[in-house]
Amino acid sequence: MKKPFIVANWKMNPETLIEAKEIASFSDNENVVVCPPFIFIESVKDNLKKATLGAQNCFYEKKGPFTGEVSSKMLREMGCGYVIVGHSERKENFNEEKEIINKKIKSLIEEEIIPIVCLSEKGFSDEGLEYLEKEIEVLDDIPIDKVIIAYEPVCAIGTGDSYPVDLAKEKKVFIADIIKKKNKANTLPTIFYGGSVDSENALLYMEEGGFSGLLVSTSSLIKKEFEKIINKTISI
Ligand code: PGA
Repeated sequence: MKKPFIVANWKMNPETLIEAKEIASFSDNENVVVCPPFIFIESVKDNLKKATLGAQNCFYEKKGPFTGEVSSKMLREMGCGYVIVGHSERKENFNEEKEIINKKIKSLIEEEIIPIVCLSEKGFSDEGLEYLEKEIEVLDDIPIDKVIIAYEPVCAIGTGDSYPVDLAKEKKVFIADIIKKKNKANTLPTIFYGGSVDSENALLYMEEGGFSGLLVSTSSLIKKEFEKIINKTISI
């Protein structure tokens, strides 16, 4: 599961289909997973030749009376290879809890889609570690080689404030250690970093932080910035 390693999470952007196609065109790189809003998936798909299509959420049931929801199976049908689950914004705004996220992860694995499981973390303190440890419980009965973990400190998401690379690295090691203790198969988890990634810090998170990939939102919507991130990280 080495590549692709940059995941573009567009969140609820852009506002128009024309803009969506434009963003897709500069994101079209074989190392990139593009996660547009559901409504743009079909159109964006036609604009992607090299990048992999992804999504930002799913529901765990296959079909039925779940108004407004989209299943993992439907996303598979649309060609999505990756789906982000448990983003901190979903936990905060839509009360998404561990049990729900866990079911979503399982439904994605069943459809052979790779879940990108977000583990949020509140801040810089040790309290953050306790919080993070609880977040990891969402993976307790999940085969770790079937998922990508995205470590995302909430204080860095969408703020433009870079999270210190050394702290991010510590948290990465912490996550890997906890998973190693829990996971008797000894599989090493694939861990990405997310939170105010830009062209200045992207390479640092990968080279110094030891992260295998990046989850990028704000910078993925800006042509020059995203192209720089791709160009700087692509060679490693
Ligand atoms: P950001 O968002 O790149 O805008 O900080 C990252 C994320 O929420 O995944």
